[in-house]
Amino acid sequence: QEITAVMWLYWILLVLLLLALLRRLLRGSSSPNPFSADCRRPPAPLVTDKDVRKKVIKQGVLPASTSFSLHAILVDHYMEGAWYPRGGPSEIAFHTIPVIKQAGGAVLTKAAVQSILVNADGKACGVSVQKGQDLVNIFAPIVISDAGIFNTYERLLPAEIRTLPDIQAQLHMVDHGISGLSVFIGLNGSKEELGLEGTNYFIYSHQNLDEAMNCFFTASREEAAENIPILFVTSPSSKDPTWQERYPGKSTLCILALAQYEWFEEWKEETVQKRGAEYESLKNAMVESILKTVLKLYPHLEDKIECISSGSPLTNQHYIASPKGELYGAAHSISRLQAEATAILRSQTCVPNLYLTGQDICLCGFMGALQGAVLCASAVLQRNLYSDMLRLWRNSPANNSKKKD
Ligand SMILES: Cc1cc2nc3c(=O)[nH]c(=O)nc-3n(C[C@H](O)[C@H](O)[C@H](O)COP(=O)(O)OP(=O)(O)OC[C@H]3O[C@@H](n4cnc5c(N)ncnc54)[C@H](O)[C@@H]3O)c2cc1C
Ligand SMILES: *[C@@H]1O[C@H](CO)[C@@H](O)[C@H](O)[C@H]1NC(C)=O
Ligand SMILES: *[C@@H]1O[C@H](CO)[C@@H](O)[C@H](O)[C@H]1NC(C)=O
Repeated sequence: QEITAVMWLYWILLVLLLLALLRRLLRGSSSPNPFSADCRRPPAPLVTDKDVRKKVIKQGVLPASTSFSLHAILVDHYMEGAWYPRGGPSEIAFHTIPVIKQAGGAVLTKAAVQSILVNADGKACGVSVQKGQDLVNIFAPIVISDAGIFNTYERLLPAEIRTLPDIQAQLHMVDHGISGLSVFIGLNGSKEELGLEGTNYFIYSHQNLDEAMNCFFTASREEAAENIPILFVTSPSSKDPTWQERYPGKSTLCILALAQYEWFEEWKEETVQKRGAEYESLKNAMVESILKTVLKLYPHLEDKIECISSGSPLTNQHYIASPKGELYGAAHSISRLQAEATAILRSQTCVPNLYLTGQDICLCGFMGALQGAVLCASAVLQRNLYSDMLRLWRNSPANNSKKKD
């Protein structure tokens, strides 16, 4: 009887296998990855008007190396307006710290981790932290790194572990993301007086962004200022309903542009704010060119500017510890979104008790980094926290709130 049961099982398995094979044959060898198509070729079913389709293709909406599906998700998330934290982004940390403390945690600032401690069994067991001139070891059963894949693997892990094949395999799947310049402008006048709105402008210098980007990135650093292909311009103060109480009669503008880390690399060892005249003049040439474009958008602001402060890729390196001044961590290339890369770039690492979190595990941005954190917490707790969140959301009165402009 046992033997016939086993035989039946084999038969059922065989039939299932044949059915699966047949289905695959009928549907074509493999279903395409929706993230593979780049932005120059929007999938045909999405653009039915042939002339419009030609135009979209010609315009090259975003560089050839960006996934169309990812771009569509980004645009879709902006459709009903975006979010801004009431009181400014510092509120995120301010309200997160008590939650960490309530759970028995501690938050240390100006405590740079010098290395991840790995015990004789090859397991992560804590971190070594700089405190003034000293190093202090903090031991922990689990180490979670939000420092990004490059910092964690290439700097924080002991040298003998960095060379492990699994670590190298993961590193080979990612490139350093794009770097940028930031310009912060303080203005005299409220948003009403200055006619500012809580909106984002993306300003392109040319229709063909691929060409414009190539031109910019192959330019010398002296020519770069004249070839800036894209600017992001926004007024954070206009988005924050608490701003006018805190800073009556004042406003801000924030501008982001792209830049090559290598243009500024020679000053990387210099002290922040003391990098010298040559560095300042290179940076200022770019800032001036940016201002010229921004003042075309807001000509009436020229005599309202009270202060300007700007940052280069080295500023990002100093303040957010991005190894090459990256704005958004590892590059969001099409290759990073392939099935193999997504399967390999996960929170679990080949070092037991060491996990990665943040933007390099999922996608960039505040939301992308949060998703990385949920994936990481799910890995640590070995439970799918998305189903917990879905349950919470279903029971929460907050789930009927809608985004507002
Ligand atoms: C100028 C700029 C503007 C942006 N604007 C937006 C926006 O409007 N909306 C949006 O959604 N996203 C925006 N982003 C992207 C967003 O900030 C990131 O995607 C997000 O912060 C990533 O979160 P994270 O936790 O993965 O990494 P991070 O926020 O970079 O956090 C990593 C932290 O690790 C710390 N760290 C690194 N190494 C060490 C070490 N050895 N020891 C101790 N600490 C260490 C760093 O200091 C840093 O605080 C912007 C990014 C930049 C640079
Ligand atoms: C700011 O604008 C107000 C009103 O226009 C003006 O009275 C004031 O002098 C300006 N302040 C500065 C610092 O320019
Ligand atoms: C929350 O959303 C779910 C699913 O859409 C719905 O069934 C539920 O009634 C909502 N709860 C509230 C309080 O709106």
